[in-house]
Amino acid sequence: MKNRNILVTGGAGFIGSHLVRLLVNKYPDYHIVNMDVLTYAGNLANLKDIEAKDNYTFVKCDICDFEQVKAVFATHNIDSVIHLAAESHVDRSIKDPFSFAQTNIMGTLSLLQAAKFAWDGDFKDKLFYHVSTDEVYGSLGDEGFFLETTAYDPHSPYSASKASSDHFVRAFHDTYGLPTVISNCSNNYGSYQFPEKLIPLFINNICNNKPLPVYGKGENVRDWLFVNDHASAIDVIFHKGKLGDTYNIGGFNEWKNIDLIKVLIETTDRLLGREKGASDQLITYVTDRAGHDMRYAIDATKLKDELGWEPSLQFEEGIEKTVQWYLDNKQWMEHITSGAYEDYYNEMYKN
Ligand code: NAD
Ligand code: TYD
Repeated sequence: MKNRNILVTGGAGFIGSHLVRLLVNKYPDYHIVNMDVLTYAGNLANLKDIEAKDNYTFVKCDICDFEQVKAVFATHNIDSVIHLAAESHVDRSIKDPFSFAQTNIMGTLSLLQAAKFAWDGDFKDKLFYHVSTDEVYGSLGDEGFFLETTAYDPHSPYSASKASSDHFVRAFHDTYGLPTVISNCSNNYGSYQFPEKLIPLFINNICNNKPLPVYGKGENVRDWLFVNDHASAIDVIFHKGKLGDTYNIGGFNEWKNIDLIKVLIETTDRLLGREKGASDQLITYVTDRAGHDMRYAIDATKLKDELGWEPSLQFEEGIEKTVQWYLDNKQWMEHITSGAYEDYYNEMYKN
């Protein structure tokens, strides 16, 4: 289908900016409307290379502002939504669960209602695509994987708010017939990620010889996917996904935190021309995160078998590219870590 008008929410954030770039460059016939309120995590510098393109429009708007969201649907004749806007950091959700409920639950509801209102029962060639996380499934033991059928069991205020938003999306499909699709992805890494998440935080700290705060014993396991591969999976699901369905996205790439941290240290030291092991002493074990999920692992077989998607990169190559990007983009990092970031860091890591 040509000439789609796609509303991407949260397009100035980490994953959203990669998705917007992919869509704007790959589909010149699509109009991409990026709706973002620009919280601390939203940064238009992430989109500098595509901001002047004819098929791209930025709208500063809070997804919770129902009247303004409705107006954006009308102005741009929106026929599809890819919804990524969210409060996304678990540690912040522990300190301030209200803002997570507000943005992730009420914001999603506001978008669903606006889509229902704008499309007014004519759902032909319409789609509401909700981007979610594997964290809604809870925590695994040593064995097993999250499947699309795994029961929801969120533990953090972040994952509880995302689980709730997923339920609202399904409820709108089942109750009003809204054409929806949901994907649940594992942890992403890559360029333009805000340095509150493990990988960019630790790369930045290694560069600046600052302690690396490892929660608990560093034995928690996460399943890591290169962000461009998440964007390519969203592209495939957006075009080929079955309405009302759910797809897990992941690359079968599990790492114990402490092992991943050692790879980060080795790679960053090497690319900085430092001696091997130079930054090992920065590892600092700190108090564990409250309610810390032990293990996430996605089974993405359905996405491969039904829609033919597979990740493009091996982890070693992805990490090398990622560390190199942060080293090459020091200004981006310095801009982000000036001002309010320092207050955040001192408050979060004071113990
Ligand atoms: P991010 O925190 O980097 O970006 C979130 C973006 O949403 C920012 O640009 C922010 O300004 C915007 N935003 C926040 N509140 C808003 C509001 N009320 N109105 C409009 N815009 C608002 O997040 P991310 O890591 O890019 O994650 C994007 C989505 O993907 C989220 O829904 C997240 O739950 C999901 N997800 C993330 C990961 C991951 O590893 N980062 C993994 C799986 C799923
Ligand atoms: P994070 O990047 O916050 O992603 P999530 O919690 O959504 O999986 O954290 C990844 C893992 O790294 C998680 O097990 C928590 C751990 N972690 C630390 O050990 N120290 C840190 O400073 C941070 C931010 C995370």
